[in-house]
Amino acid sequence: MAAEGAAERDQMVLLKQGAEAKIYSGTFMGRPAIIKERFSKAYRHPDLDKSLTVQRTKAEVRSIMRCRMIGICTPAVYFVDMERHRIYMEHVAASITVREYIADLERSCSANHVSALRPLAEKIGATVGLMHSHNVIHGDLTTSNMLLSRLPKDGPDAGGDTLDGYRLVLIDFGLGYKEGLAEDKGVDLYVLERAFLSTHPNTEALFSVILEHYKLGYGKGAADVINKLEEIRMRGRKRTMVG
Ligand SMILES: Nc1ncnc2c1ncn2[C@@H]1O[C@H](COP(=O)(O)OP(=O)(O)OP(=O)(O)O)[C@@H](O)[C@H]1O
Ligand SMILES: [Mg+2]
Repeated sequence: MAAEGAAERDQMVLLKQGAEAKIYSGTFMGRPAIIKERFSKAYRHPDLDKSLTVQRTKAEVRSIMRCRMIGICTPAVYFVDMERHRIYMEHVAASITVREYIADLERSCSANHVSALRPLAEKIGATVGLMHSHNVIHGDLTTSNMLLSRLPKDGPDAGGDTLDGYRLVLIDFGLGYKEGLAEDKGVDLYVLERAFLSTHPNTEALFSVILEHYKLGYGKGAADVINKLEEIRMRGRKRTMVG
C-alpha cells in the first residue's frame, strides 16, 4: 500500500515510553506526525497480549473518530498499521499537557492560580460533557491525557472558542468505548476528579467549575451522571475506610 510505503521511509524519533506504548515523532506523507506504537508485555499470555493490543489500538482510533465527528478536538488520524500496532496521527503542534500547564501556573502565580485556571476548567467540563452526551467514554481521563496547543496569534482559530490562545485537545483513548450508562460516565468523571485532586493540590474549587460546565455541555440527563458520581465517591470512601 502506498501510504504504508510512505510511513516506512519516515524517520522516527522516540519521544516517550509509557506503560503500554512508545511515542515517536516523525512524518507521514510529509506532515509532522506522532506515531503511537503499542508493544508486547512479556508477563501477559501471548494470545491475550495480542488481542489486548489490537483491541486498544482499534478502541483508540474509533474513539478519536467519534470525538472528531461531534466537534471535539483530537489529533487527526493519518494511518493505522495494524500489523505493528501503530497509529500515525497529527502531531499537535506547540502543545503541553494540562498537567504541565497547571504546574507552571502554580509556580508562577500561586496566589490566584485558581482564578487563572477557571477558563481551562470551564473548557474541560464543557468538552467532557459534550463527549458524554454522545456516549463516548474516555476510560483514562487524566490531566496528562489532555493537551493545550498554542494557536498562531492571527490564525483562523485565534479568539472565539479558545482559552487565551490555546486549544484543548483530548488524547490517549486506548481505553475508550461507547456506552450510554450513567455509571460509566460517572466513573470517567471520578477518574478525572481523582487525577485533578491528587496531582494538583488546592484545586477542589476547580473541579466544581468543571462539573458546572459539564452540565452545560451535556444538557438533559447530566444530573443522573452527577448523582452516580456521588455514589461512586461514597463507594470510594467506604473502600478507603475498610482498608
Ligand atoms: N498527537 C500528539 N501530539 C503531540 N503530543 C502527543 C500526541 N500524542 C501523544 N503526545 C505526547 O505523548 C504523551 C503520551 O501519549 P499518550 O498519553 O497517548 O500515551 P501513553 O500515556 O504512554 O499511553 P498508555 O496510556 O497506553 O501508557 C502525551 O502526554 C503527550 O505529551
Ligand atoms: Mg497518556
